[in-house]
Amino acid sequence: MPDAYILGIESSCDETAAAVVRSGEQVISNVVASQIATHQPYGGVVPELASREHLRAIVPVVRQALAEAKQTYDSVDAIAVTQGPGLAGALLVGISYAKALAFALDKPLIAVNHLEGHIHAVLLDLSQDQLSQNQLSQNHERQKGNHELQFPVLALVVSGGHTHLYLARQNDRSWIYENIGHTRDDAAGEAFDKVAKLLGLGYPGGPVIDRLSPHGNPNAVKFPPAQIKHADRRGRKDGRSVELVSDSNDDHPRFDFSYSGIKTAIVRYVEAHNMRKGIDARRKALSQIAKPKLEDYLARCDRRTLDLVASFQRAIVGDLVGKTLAAARAYDVATLFVTGGVAANQELRQTFEREGAKEGLPVYFPSRPLSTDNAAMIAAAAFPKFQVKDFAPMDFSAEAGLALR
Ligand code: KG4
Ligand code: ZN
Repeated sequence: MPDAYILGIESSCDETAAAVVRSGEQVISNVVASQIATHQPYGGVVPELASREHLRAIVPVVRQALAEAKQTYDSVDAIAVTQGPGLAGALLVGISYAKALAFALDKPLIAVNHLEGHIHAVLLDLSQDQLSQNQLSQNHERQKGNHELQFPVLALVVSGGHTHLYLARQNDRSWIYENIGHTRDDAAGEAFDKVAKLLGLGYPGGPVIDRLSPHGNPNAVKFPPAQIKHADRRGRKDGRSVELVSDSNDDHPRFDFSYSGIKTAIVRYVEAHNMRKGIDARRKALSQIAKPKLEDYLARCDRRTLDLVASFQRAIVGDLVGKTLAAARAYDVATLFVTGGVAANQELRQTFEREGAKEGLPVYFPSRPLSTDNAAMIAAAAFPKFQVKDFAPMDFSAEAGLALR
């Protein structure tokens, strides 16, 4: 089959993104317009503002992606767009524009699940150029070309909105997915964001906590229990806590997550140690700096705060790695993918690499710039669909709660 150039469009949350990807693997261009500055004053994504910003950004972002790829509207082979899950109003901006392009240009339109996009981000190759443009050369990213991939693949998708474990298999060229775990409450990235907000560290929280954690003692604060438990009233009439891993039948064990408890534990810790005043002062001081650097954060964090941050990250990482590797053993998978915004986290990458190696399990991540939301991953996930002509009808719509199968 000749090379296929797919234009990907992504607008599910707070990033307006467009990219051109060759044959599902080679990123030719990757443009991401972030709305962080718009949402920062509110400490989280405001859906109405997100839609408005997508409307403003979508046309220039797509034009830039085509120009950087030295492609034109006419030269691309297909247009791929995120159908869901995500914010309905935000998704609709990308979908409407993609439909208009596909209709006007008479090109195939491909609807992609955002989570499948995150999984396929692992297969993408950023050119050295693009890596140095992004000034990122990390040790722990090892993307894998489709051809060498061993199935079944276990994929942990861990982001601001999702903490999911998928078992992925290939049927002919198409990928099929089985969800074998998800969060019962907060997503892991959401926990990072909420804890950072709580400690006056701003938004989004993941990158800040990632950079501050090496400066604290990860063993200073214990969050019981290491295996985070959850009151599961479906399984037990008495409503007592049960181990999440045991809530399933033997053939299809489930590995669910729960991160709202640790957030509550941090609220209690803050109250018990009278940290409130210091937090308010830090929040105020940091809000007056346009782009705070690591030194700015460090100068405004006392030892107790740094220890708390490091201990929180260690607890989340330990839980994600522990449950994911237990799932990998239970389903005897050949390969592990770790992807989504939280997969950019250094400690998470290092711990997965180390623990995966002990079990002889190959672990792959997207390059760090492709861990968070982008459109290259949407174009990549569209490629197998392009090959089998799995095109979307013109009347398909956004699905805020779209499941991956
Ligand atoms: O995949 P993504 O860009 O958007 C969603 O689909 O949600 O993920 C964003 C999430 C945010 O919660 C952010 O705090 C988290 O990923 N994140 C990180 C890091 N970079 C982004 N969490 C931990 N460590 C990081 N380095
Ligand atoms: Zn995402």
